[in-house]
Amino acid sequence: MEINLCGHRMKNPVIAASGTFGFGREYEDFYHPSLLGGISSKGLTLKPQKGNPGQRIHETPAGIMNSIGLQNPGVEEFIRTELTQMLSIDTLTLVNLGGHSIDDYMEGASRLEKTDAPVIELNISCPNVEKGGMAFGIQCIPAKEVVSAVRSVTKKTLIVKLSPNAENIAQMAAACEEAGADGISLVNTFQAMAVDVYKRKAVFERVTAGLSGPAIFPIALRMVHDAAKAVSIPVIGLGGIQQAEDAIAMIMAGATAVQVGTAQFMRPSLVPDLIEDMKRYKETQGIRSWGEIRGII
Ligand SMILES: Cc1cc2nc3c(=O)[nH]c(=O)nc-3n(C[C@H](O)[C@H](O)[C@H](O)COP(=O)(O)O)c2cc1C
Repeated sequence: MEINLCGHRMKNPVIAASGTFGFGREYEDFYHPSLLGGISSKGLTLKPQKGNPGQRIHETPAGIMNSIGLQNPGVEEFIRTELTQMLSIDTLTLVNLGGHSIDDYMEGASRLEKTDAPVIELNISCPNVEKGGMAFGIQCIPAKEVVSAVRSVTKKTLIVKLSPNAENIAQMAAACEEAGADGISLVNTFQAMAVDVYKRKAVFERVTAGLSGPAIFPIALRMVHDAAKAVSIPVIGLGGIQQAEDAIAMIMAGATAVQVGTAQFMRPSLVPDLIEDMKRYKETQGIRSWGEIRGII
């Protein structure tokens, strides 16, 4: 089941997606997190954030909308209290880093540079914050600026997380590669909206929120395919994966690894089964390594 992601050995291609797995301990009642190929931390910002007021999660058919607003303890507190414990889990740690300005991203990355964290997943795709976040992930020029700036302060593996709301996903992927990304991950959530017709109000205070879960899988798959065709760096595919076949389809579309998020909220013990099912598929199909089927479509 092993794969190599940007020079890092992973025991399997499955990573817990940022914001759906805390800092690695939250699912311990269900299975040991070292079973995963990797864990992406909750998105961090330079300073602590309380997150958004009002309702934060709303269920939709086959998905959820969220407006968490990057609630997090801040990079410094994360390094002091959470990072060592994350690194003690026998799995690849990805530190998901958000920001509101280029300076913010650079300062956050500089502080992480001094730690043993192996991978930074640069989140230029959060739709739920007032300033920054997804604003960097819509057009290629701001994306290139922020990726180059962060590249200049870190030698760590830099994976850039793209937004499905980007104007052109293939061009965005290529722009991030040109700016020095070692890999890309996609997709973050789709900007969406819900209305409570009885209250005659939008469900969320900020009106829009991010849609994730099985509802987005076919669109995410198409975007991973488009992005993978446009770059020569590794791609991590995510968005709505809920079973082994979805993860394998992502690999066939060009992904080296996958992330699983929202589906775990419906079934917290999903990941061990999904990994076992991927293993069974590989054995019964006579596949020796995932590279054999990667990008075959
Ligand atoms: C409650 C929640 C919080 C999230 N927080 C973050 C975050 O902090 N940083 C980030 O890059 N993505 C965040 N995401 C996006 C997920 O990592 C993932 O990109 C998205 O949900 C699509 O995958 P899924 O359909 O498997 O959940 C969050 C998603 C949810 C549902």
